Amino acid sequence: MEMDVYNNIQHNVKKILNIDLTYYKDEQMRRRLDSWLVRTTLSSWDEYFKLVTHDETELTRFRNYLTINVTEFFRDLDRWNALIKDVLPGLIKDAAARKAPQDGLRVWSAGCSVGVEAYTLAMVLEEIMPMKNHTILATDLDRGALAKAKAGGPYQADETKNLTDVQKRKYLETGGPPHFIRKTLASKITFREQNLMTDQFDNNFDLIVCRNVIIYFTNDAKAKLYPKFQQALRPGGVLFLGGTEIIPRPAEIGLKNYGISFYIKA
Ligand SMILES: C[S@@+](CC[C@H](N)C(=O)[O-])C[C@H]1O[C@@H](n2cnc3c(N)ncnc32)[C@H](O)[C@@H]1O
Repeated sequence: MEMDVYNNIQHNVKKILNIDLTYYKDEQMRRRLDSWLVRTTLSSWDEYFKLVTHDETELTRFRNYLTINVTEFFRDLDRWNALIKDVLPGLIKDAAARKAPQDGLRVWSAGCSVGVEAYTLAMVLEEIMPMKNHTILATDLDRGALAKAKAGGPYQADETKNLTDVQKRKYLETGGPPHFIRKTLASKITFREQNLMTDQFDNNFDLIVCRNVIIYFTNDAKAKLYPKFQQALRPGGVLFLGGTEIIPRPAEIGLKNYGISFYIKA
């Protein structure tokens, strides 16, 4: 794809979807866009943008494609097990020393997509710290994904494959697939629209989970984002990233390696 074509797409995507593609890796995004146009069978991006201005369904499909809404419960199970075994005991101990007895952890799923990461977090907290008042925030820039997250589904069998039978019985409505999350779990999470690059962050989090989001960002975008996460953590709070998302020199922004995928605020 020629650079002027890509510039034009960036302009239209910003105008129509309010997504700023300059934050995302150029080469990867241009490849994805090329293959998207091939799938539509239209011959030019001008034609495609004409189509999406009056076809809401196509617009949603395009948004989902651009934001890459791939996700599943307990995605990378071994990392979630590491969270449970190596990270949460420390956070729980800290919380016990600092908070009122009924207070739980303050956690944030940043780039939560259709919600399964936030529900995974809610399940983990329910299992290891039941009966506490946790604060679970979940955000994404994609309104369509958030609508599904708030509705608690529907989720397909391949998305729920890492749940144990006990978890399925406890947290999913009976029937399905497709599956829906029980209201008792869903009501524990606050879902909110937020653009990580441009919007303000809440703060004082014990744990921030931002997995498989930053991977698509340019180095400049990452360099802006990591310090914002650091500021949003309380001292001793932990940032949980995706498998290939590595902060190059964490000490420079006040973070320390804390095992694979985890960084702790000094
Ligand atoms: C591949 S999904 C990851 C979902 C989940 N975190 C997981 O690992 O299963 C990437 C998500 O990041 C969101 N995203 C991308 N850029 C974003 C931004 N600038 N602000 C907020 N969310 C963003 C997308 O909308 C998408 O839902």
